[in-house]
Amino acid sequence: MSRSVRLVPPAAALFALALTTTACGGGVHGTPGGSGVRDPYFPKAGNGGYDVDHYDLALDYTPAGRRLTGTAVITARATQDLSAFNLDLAGLQVDSVTVEGRKALFARAGQELTVRPHDDLSKGETFRTTVRYSGTPRTLTDPDGSKEGWLPTADGGLGLGEPVGSMAWFPGNHHPSDKATYDITVTVPKGLQAVSNGELADQSTKGGRTSFHWHTAQPMAGYLATVAVGHYDITRTRGPHGLPIIAAVDHAEAKESKEVLAKLSDIVDWEEYNFGPYPFSSTGAIVTGDSDAGYALETQNRPVIPADQFNTETLVHELAHQWYGDSVTPSSWQDMWLNEGFATYAEWLYGEDHGGESAQQTFMDLYNGDNEAIWAYPPAKPSSAAHISDSPVYLRGAMVLQKIRQKVGDDTFYAIIQGWAATHRYGNVDTADFTAYVEKKAPGHDFSEIWKDWLYGDGKPAHP
Ligand code: TRP
Ligand code: ZN
Repeated sequence: MSRSVRLVPPAAALFALALTTTACGGGVHGTPGGSGVRDPYFPKAGNGGYDVDHYDLALDYTPAGRRLTGTAVITARATQDLSAFNLDLAGLQVDSVTVEGRKALFARAGQELTVRPHDDLSKGETFRTTVRYSGTPRTLTDPDGSKEGWLPTADGGLGLGEPVGSMAWFPGNHHPSDKATYDITVTVPKGLQAVSNGELADQSTKGGRTSFHWHTAQPMAGYLATVAVGHYDITRTRGPHGLPIIAAVDHAEAKESKEVLAKLSDIVDWEEYNFGPYPFSSTGAIVTGDSDAGYALETQNRPVIPADQFNTETLVHELAHQWYGDSVTPSSWQDMWLNEGFATYAEWLYGEDHGGESAQQTFMDLYNGDNEAIWAYPPAKPSSAAHISDSPVYLRGAMVLQKIRQKVGDDTFYAIIQGWAATHRYGNVDTADFTAYVEKKAPGHDFSEIWKDWLYGDGKPAHP
């Protein structure tokens, strides 16, 4: 799904010079892929000219010394004739790069790792890139001040990637528009656990180190990949229709987390009833120490939730993201409200169905309340990258859904939210896809005022 751009990255320009002195077996027929995909909020994120099918990551991590040694084998398809292409990688040292088994030239500039394969790649060709790298992975600070990337913890580490942190622990096409399947094998000192996305395919110990091989069979955006290393209690149970539940709880938080964890299966069951079939082959949670991460994140299959935020509402929210965000993923960071508006609305619906106030009442409380921050900008147009996770995206985003429900009634509303998840399963979407979908599913209704006032309009709409 990645779009190519015509920017020539400086490093690729260098390679163009180098070409005059480099023997190039296949001849030159390609041009460099873009260094970004023109995301309106994170322009350097992602790369043009190829589309990744699969990441095979072998990560070796030693908490003492915070040392990571990694091999990333990236299988991708060229979407244009390519003389060079970029990967996103922040920090770390690149030790070698090969493309199709042949040594490739590479150069680095900021978060761009430019690779110049020995032979040009042809449009449509599937090619394999192997990057060997090492070092101490960085913690990155987002435009909004929050920490992501690699977070060292008391006894291990935690990889988090929204919006751009995954580039701190593996090279890739780090934009939500390019999804891929994953094999993530993490090797850690014996006695520690390493938890990631998908299902555990294999575990083995030798020479005092244990390897955990996690397989993610359904497409995943890079920002949803995670690795948690530490002393975790891992439980494997079954949920609705036998769905595997793999939960990992920081050993020190096991007691405190038990009660909420026991609700996970029923929450997934309730969400399937409301949103349609669960999209992935396993579910669960990773409950971390309080200070390991300052926030929860909907990492695919099993959201990361700090123990002090591990409550029913947060679990409902992060699991709802498995449908809205993880399976149906925004094409750019502009459309965050398609994640957060839905996950917030899931909390409102859950409350309504479990003896709390109705979603309409929650909507009216917000409309009449004094939280002016909600009206700072319209959900479909965040004011800047520093504000993509503010309340207009979460709360006013959820209010847009309540406005649709007001207009069409419950039957059509549920058909819309379930149909949206089913139609775009494993895909990428933008706001225009959503408004078109709603109009198609409810042809007798006029949504133009809702879109104009609630989705795109500045300030507080005149009527609730
Ligand atoms: N997506 C997370 C949630 O709703 C919140 C979050 C964490 C976030 N990090 C972020 C949102 C970075 C935007 C950008 O549970
Ligand atoms: Zn969320």
